[in-house]
Amino acid sequence: MLTQEENERLTQVGPGTPMGELMRRYWHPVAAAAELDDRPTKAVRLLGEDLVLYKDKSGTLGLIERFCPHRRVDLSYGIPEERGLRCMYHGWMMDETGQCVEQPFEETVRPDGRFKEKVKIAGYPVEELGGLLFAYLGPSPAPLTPRWDLFVTEHAWRDIGFTMLPCNWLQCQENSADPVHAEWLHGVYGWWLAQRSGEEVPPWRKAMMRPHKRIGFTEFAHGVFKRRVVEGTSEDDDIWKVGHPWVFPNILRSTTGTTSTEFQYRVPVDDEHTLHVVYTRYQFPPEAEVPPQERVPYYEIPLYRNGELNVEVPLPQDFMAWVTQGPVADRTRERLGESDVGVIQLRRMLNEAMATVADGGDPMNVFRDPASNECLEMTQEKVYYTPDRNQARMIYHGHQRYNPAIGEIVGMFPG
Ligand code: FES
Ligand SMILES: [Fe+2]
Repeated sequence: MLTQEENERLTQVGPGTPMGELMRRYWHPVAAAAELDDRPTKAVRLLGEDLVLYKDKSGTLGLIERFCPHRRVDLSYGIPEERGLRCMYHGWMMDETGQCVEQPFEETVRPDGRFKEKVKIAGYPVEELGGLLFAYLGPSPAPLTPRWDLFVTEHAWRDIGFTMLPCNWLQCQENSADPVHAEWLHGVYGWWLAQRSGEEVPPWRKAMMRPHKRIGFTEFAHGVFKRRVVEGTSEDDDIWKVGHPWVFPNILRSTTGTTSTEFQYRVPVDDEHTLHVVYTRYQFPPEAEVPPQERVPYYEIPLYRNGELNVEVPLPQDFMAWVTQGPVADRTRERLGESDVGVIQLRRMLNEAMATVADGGDPMNVFRDPASNECLEMTQEKVYYTPDRNQARMIYHGHQRYNPAIGEIVGMFPG
């Protein structure tokens, strides 16, 4: 149980709040690069700030304040030009730093005027990596965009699944520090749903229902490995010896086995909304003949289905749990038990990192040395439920099924 102040400290992400300052030390994914090819502007809300992301005609990416400094219209309706974004209302143009660089009528009437030099809105750096666009809202100098292995390994294809969730980011991340929920939410509840709809219960679901006997948490350089013993496994199995990690501060790493591995980013939009970004890498075996991927596709993982929260596959079941905790979970009324040891550890680590930032230090996973940022790797258990013999087919059991092009990807795996 937390006090109201402790809960606010962990959940509020606006400028000047302790968590807002911690989150401003990280690059956050805000869009797929392919989105701007389809439409060159996108309204973005991040850490409580309203912004517009755009690509100008020269290919420069910009992320500037969303509202025009003249009379405050929405620049996501603006026109990308050779060197900036032009407001559609009276033609003022801003560059990627937020500096006003043109004011057509002002310049006509006062050719020697210097008005535009005095007009500047916020502008933040944007970088592309692995088909994602990352934004950084923190102090200069910006750290490096982390080159996690999922973004940079070869002989792989990738896709990106987005969902906007009406709840605070911490509910999502606490779920990733809570191994026991998998047995109940995805195992028992998932089985109950499948039985009701007359579906045959697949072996992987039964395996997921095995009761937890022991859970463990080991901090490492990038986060925490969650480990478990479930009925029928022992401390010699890699679900206990290795486990799988959540990555500090707001990422889960998960896998279907040898074929696909993903990062789930819980990007704080504001105190009551989270952009959930699933970045999946499909790693092909050496014998597979696969052309390089030209465009990393993006798709939506639906929060609703048939007018209710979607509970069709495990990740939307998680969404349902997070969203039904309310816009900001009331942690003054929770009752934590032994299954919540990892949740308590996550909160402690976040509190320590907020203190580090307040002291002027860099928290975990802020990288500044290019030599150690070439390919950031970590170990991971194999799946802890019995996989389908065809590993690639396992992909259909998960949320990647919502990518309309998933059949093409699965079809490229041999066997
Ligand atoms: S409101 Fe944007 S130029 Fe006038
Ligand atoms: Fe889950």
